[in-house]
Amino acid sequence: MNNPYIPKPVRIEEIITETEDRNLKTFKLVFLNQADEQVFRYTPGQFAELSIAGKGEIPIGIASSPTEGKHLLFTINKVGVVTTHLHNMSVGDVMGVRGPLGRPYPIDELEGKNVVIVSGGFAFTTLRSMIAYMLENRDRFGNITVIYGARTPGMLLYKDQLKEWQDRDDIALNVTVDKEAEGWDGKVGFVPAVTREVAPSADNAYALVCGPPIMIKFTQPVLTELGFTPETIIMSLENRMKCGIGICGRCNVGPYYVCKDGPVFTLAELNEMPKEY
Ligand SMILES: Cc1cc2nc3c(=O)[nH]c(=O)nc-3n(C[C@H](O)[C@H](O)[C@H](O)COP(=O)(O)OP(=O)(O)OC[C@H]3O[C@@H](n4cnc5c(N)ncnc54)[C@H](O)[C@@H]3O)c2cc1C
Ligand code: FES
Repeated sequence: MNNPYIPKPVRIEEIITETEDRNLKTFKLVFLNQADEQVFRYTPGQFAELSIAGKGEIPIGIASSPTEGKHLLFTINKVGVVTTHLHNMSVGDVMGVRGPLGRPYPIDELEGKNVVIVSGGFAFTTLRSMIAYMLENRDRFGNITVIYGARTPGMLLYKDQLKEWQDRDDIALNVTVDKEAEGWDGKVGFVPAVTREVAPSADNAYALVCGPPIMIKFTQPVLTELGFTPETIIMSLENRMKCGIGICGRCNVGPYYVCKDGPVFTLAELNEMPKEY
């Protein structure tokens, strides 16, 4: 019988230190068993529970796109017990993955539309998955505009990938840092201000937003000014979770379990929820 609580074993194939403070690392994982790899069918926006035997289990957004091959990418911020254990692991070590979990970005609805991605900090991970997916299926989407901010140039994720995207003419990439920095000749300013400056059109468009609460608080009114409606603003929530499959009730907000009904919600759906999220 398929027990949804049993993690599948994966091996760490590569560890990439992303940021200058060394607190954000991307883990490239491959399944030990081909059968597990074949059933792990995911869509951008979903997450998985990562586990280390005897240490614990944590929900982490999937940063890779299913279009990129058989490996999975997770970019992990070192904040506490389990994430610190993960950061101390090495290439070749084995850990567990349970998933894919949660409601993804509504790809069918986004097809044929212009897509605006707005993100700050390490929340960019699941949006990286979405961008990679759209670029691999480029003719299925309209204009792609990305606004991505970090505190400093050294805190930007996926630096090589950003350079690649910057060189393409089928994606408008706007990378910004909070203040002037030596060697940085890109945009300077907070994500909401840069969103106002770039002013992406809301015509036939959806905005996918993920970032720290303060960024979301100030970005949302800018998107509204630009003409995006609560139905066309799509966000991703990060609640405390345990089971990840709608059973334990840990992530409950109003009528929703964030793990199962989300983590992706439209702003219209979030507006209906109690403000505890
Ligand atoms: C759907 C989803 C996707 C996520 N994606 C990512 C990701 O891509 N990269 C990433 O680095 N983190 C992500 N997180 C957050 C990640 O789950 C927590 O940082 C992690 O659980 C902390 O575990 P810990 O044992 O190291 O920390 P703990 O020792 O348990 O806690 C340390 C700190 O982390 C905070 N924390 C603990 N659990 C959570 C949680 N579930 N959500 C938010 N904060 C928490 C605590 O408030 C505390 O400040 C995601 C969370 C969710 C729910
Ligand atoms: S984490 Fe258990 S119900 Fe969502």
